[in-house]
Amino acid sequence: MKSIAVMMSLSRVFIFMVLLFCSFQVHHATSSSSSSSSGGDYKQALTNSLLYFEGQRSGKLPSNQRVNWRGDSALQDGEDAGIDLVGGYYDAGDNLKLGFPLAFTLTMLSWSTIEFNDQLSKQNELQNALRAIKWGTDYLIKAHASPDVLYGEIGDPDSDHSCWQRPEDMTTSRTSYKLDDQHPGSDLAAETAAALAAASIAFQSTNTKYSSTMLLHATQLFDFANSHRGKYSDSIPPAREVYSSSGYEDELTWAAAWLYRASSTKKYLDYLGAVTDSGGVRAEFSWDDKYVGAHILAAKLVLDGKVNASGIWGQYKSQAEEYICSCAQKSNQNVAKTLGGLFWFLPWNNNQYVATATFVMSVYSKYLSSLGSSLNCTAGVVTPDDLTSLVRYQVDYILGSNPKNMSYMVGYGSNFPKKIHHRGASIISIKKDPSPVTCKDGFPKWFYKNAPNPNVLVGGVVSPDANDNYEDSRNDFQLAEPATVTLGPLVGVLASLA
Ligand SMILES: *[C@@H]1O[C@H](CO)[C@@H](O)[C@H](O)[C@H]1NC(C)=O
Ligand SMILES: *[C@@H]1O[C@H](CO)[C@@H](O)[C@H](O)[C@H]1NC(C)=O
Ligand SMILES: *[C@@H]1O[C@H](CO)[C@@H](O)[C@H](O)[C@H]1NC(C)=O
Repeated sequence: MKSIAVMMSLSRVFIFMVLLFCSFQVHHATSSSSSSSSGGDYKQALTNSLLYFEGQRSGKLPSNQRVNWRGDSALQDGEDAGIDLVGGYYDAGDNLKLGFPLAFTLTMLSWSTIEFNDQLSKQNELQNALRAIKWGTDYLIKAHASPDVLYGEIGDPDSDHSCWQRPEDMTTSRTSYKLDDQHPGSDLAAETAAALAAASIAFQSTNTKYSSTMLLHATQLFDFANSHRGKYSDSIPPAREVYSSSGYEDELTWAAAWLYRASSTKKYLDYLGAVTDSGGVRAEFSWDDKYVGAHILAAKLVLDGKVNASGIWGQYKSQAEEYICSCAQKSNQNVAKTLGGLFWFLPWNNNQYVATATFVMSVYSKYLSSLGSSLNCTAGVVTPDDLTSLVRYQVDYILGSNPKNMSYMVGYGSNFPKKIHHRGASIISIKKDPSPVTCKDGFPKWFYKNAPNPNVLVGGVVSPDANDNYEDSRNDFQLAEPATVTLGPLVGVLASLA
């Protein structure tokens, strides 16, 4: 009798709690839909964007891991080379660890954290942002095994792409590929230097020791990149299939700009001042083309009066501003837009370029605003507020204010992509069914299954096509595969709006 009474009262408490929870949910749904009429729930999107990085983690997961459908994976990485290369992030929807896009992601995530530190802190996301950086930079430090040795890829695209498996039970090749004195890769080594220099600034006030360790690695990597010239994808041939590099001058310039910002060492300022070709006005800012980023960092030195605005410095600044004017539709060569108003750069994962464009617009808006200044574009003046509203328009589009009424961020709003191209998300969680999914079984059992993914990769961002359409097809790796490179800058954009 007594136990029944206890059970009754417990169940009443339970029902009460369910009711409370439901009313909270209803309230939450109401408040987010009312906020979506005036724009997105940027705070929620920001939280999601940082959760995404937890979903991409490789290695031994920590006890504070919040994305619980994931488990430990790739715990033998580096064994073939006799070193520990466990950790880091999977690049996108496959299980490869790719140093080139990873380093760019971490540079942008660190830049996001540096510029929008106060906003991240106010939104209670600063610690999550620093954790997201550190999960990657801990790995980069391991990968930089000695001054002139840098591991740049783990896994083979052919082997990986011929299987459809969770990272937790992959059976594909995990070959480690490196750069060394005989196998140069100035682009990869310089981008890794940029990432560690930027991260050293992000950690300067909270973890001084870690910050100086990263700066030391960055310094060595820049020297290695500069003294052993070459394209990394010539030294690590499998990388050509996934992230083939078009050149390394942009990464060297960008890395020097980061190293100067991190260390104030004249050597890097001299490097930037001696550059003869600053790249011209660029059409995009991406994992392959860092000139826009370098131009913005150099323009900041001009704006701060740290360098003379003549010569190469004036070129950097005017090229940075011309790119921003073209995004703002105030140049004589504007960035294209879809009918629905989204910036249109390229058909493969277009939102990665929207993310970098809106990031530099947000940063420049901040710089101009602190000087009480505006941009003087060919077709008119652009104020910091103009830039912010343009950024908000792009972000609102991504979050659901678009012709499909669809959020292109997974897990945001009520209508988001359910069949993204992502091995881990599309296969039942190892926590729910530990029986291994073999290389080939994954295709009929999960890849071709016409059903929503069993796991929601919260924060992953996909892209509509040039006609504002999106079919939500798992097969469509150009549109439906979220990549880490998109989220590094987007964290900063969302923090700036939140
Ligand atoms: C900038 O450098 C140029 C060339 O060295 C010089 O002629 C000019 O006076 C300098 N301007 C300023 C503002 O220092
Ligand atoms: C913008 O440029 C034009 C032409 O070069 C100049 O006449 C005008 O004063 C400039 N405006 C600002 C705000 O700098
Ligand atoms: C999107 O939402 C608007 C406003 O609620 C509506 O008029 C329009 O028909 C919707 N479009 C689609 C494709 O659902």
